[in-house]
Amino acid sequence: MRSYFALLAALLPTVLADTYSISDTYIGQDFLNSWTHEAIQDPTNGRVNYVDQATALAENLTYANGDTLVLRADYWTMNPPDPGRSSVRIRSNNVYSTHVVVSVTFLVLGSSLADTSYP
Ligand SMILES: *[C@@H]1O[C@H](CO)[C@@H](O)[C@H](O)[C@H]1NC(C)=O
Repeated sequence: MRSYFALLAALLPTVLADTYSISDTYIGQDFLNSWTHEAIQDPTNGRVNYVDQATALAENLTYANGDTLVLRADYWTMNPPDPGRSSVRIRSNNVYSTHVVVSVTFLVLGSSLADTSYP
């Protein structure tokens, strides 16, 4: 399984023709130094417990090894107490001023998502 994040940013905004190239690539553990886990209250008031990176790693919600990266919600706890199910919310450390395209190659894990298919 390969998890691959590629961000495309406009090369030269002043050029008339749209020209794009990959500006950042994160594979497996690269991700841990380049993205921030936001342990915040859900801005949409959902029933979720966003955890920081140390907690996400300790609880195996975030798993990075080699070219593998797994990000997931806690799908093994029945009826989690308030504020809700532990999960991860991530923000890139880099700031992009023009275009951002995120390309992710992934495999869905977890019995709760077993019947979900993604293109
Ligand atoms: C953490 O998750 C990864 C990916 O699903 C798995 O391979 C690994 O065995 C898990 N580690 C523990 C300690 O459960």
